[in-house]
Amino acid sequence: MTTSRRKLDHIRICLEKPVEASSRPFEDVLLIHRALPEICEGEIETSCRFLGYRLKAPIIITGMTGGHPDTREINLNLARAAQEMGLAMGVGSQRAALEDPRQVETFSLVRDAAPDVPIIGNIGAVQLQRSGPKVLERLAEMIEADAIAVHLNFLQESVQPEGDRDAKGVIEALSSASDGGIPIIVKETGAGISREAAEDLISAGVKIMDVSGTGGTSWSGVEAYRGEEAGDTESARMGRLFWEWGIPTPASIVECRSAGAQVIGSGGVRSGLDVARCLALGGSMAGIALPLLYPATKSKEDTVAVLKDFVRALRTAMFLTGCRNIPDLQKSPLVILGKTREWLEQRGFDTRKFSAYRE
Ligand SMILES: Cc1cc2nc3c(=O)[nH]c(=O)nc-3n(C[C@H](O)[C@H](O)[C@H](O)COP(=O)(O)O)c2cc1C
Repeated sequence: MTTSRRKLDHIRICLEKPVEASSRPFEDVLLIHRALPEICEGEIETSCRFLGYRLKAPIIITGMTGGHPDTREINLNLARAAQEMGLAMGVGSQRAALEDPRQVETFSLVRDAAPDVPIIGNIGAVQLQRSGPKVLERLAEMIEADAIAVHLNFLQESVQPEGDRDAKGVIEALSSASDGGIPIIVKETGAGISREAAEDLISAGVKIMDVSGTGGTSWSGVEAYRGEEAGDTESARMGRLFWEWGIPTPASIVECRSAGAQVIGSGGVRSGLDVARCLALGGSMAGIALPLLYPATKSKEDTVAVLKDFVRALRTAMFLTGCRNIPDLQKSPLVILGKTREWLEQRGFDTRKFSAYRE
């Protein structure tokens, strides 16, 4: 099956089937209500800087698509919405365009529609390792990217019948890539990044990590459906078994932050309240994928409406915690309960540090 065709399969399954994890780890993270906020909601400033741009809110639409003519409209609506809302946007894996130049336009249209916001390219880590760091220049030129996200998806590759399971040499490839002129973001795709992996990445020179942890779209789940549809019972079984595999997003944010990374919190971000939780846990930005897929198949307006909802809830969370701006939110106290607390304590983190006001 071609990369381009597989991409369509993934989108169809994400639109039609329940592909998310059964748990909602963000519910373990409680911001502390401030009964006397002593600020005016209208003066709250959600803007922040990212990759040299000023964004209206610390939100990135994380990479989903491009690579097949039928994905054109989705990327266009996402890009127009990002431009209107002043938010960052990533494209999906550009591998299909490297393999078939006819697909380039499904990616390059993004920059034309969103000239004033950061646009992030995308390639798999194994692809980077095989092609060498020069490929980053081609990817960046294709869409005038401000950075390239190199994605890690070994969970999905492990379940896919045609999966690539040779992970040797990836850290070295990332190390060579991060020496070049194009900023690199290393991103997971739904299984999270641990402190140990983040430390390896920091040693390789990678500074920005998109954790994409569990609690949202499960790529093992998507592959389970593909296996079932193809009558491949072995892949279907594997996909179901590893459906929930990985590091819950809130825990992964804390793990990567403790290694010194600049963190994008993503994987299961389903509201502006989750965006606020990502930032209070130590993230600089929050990333959203699945909730924008369906609206982007409809129109720019539908996509903007969903994003407006996110920003409205982020402002509300900031108001109710007495945070005037993003740096205030990043210091805002919170309480960590349940499995996330157990996870972090077992991993040696002192969760009480989050519950006191932090300078
Ligand atoms: C339809 C779809 C396609 C995706 N394609 C890519 C991709 O090409 N490259 C990538 O790095 N991540 C890809 N992702 C993963 C997302 O960027 C994100 O990391 C993951 O879905 C978790 O976020 P969510 O729970 O908000 O969906 C895709 C996600 C979806 C829903």
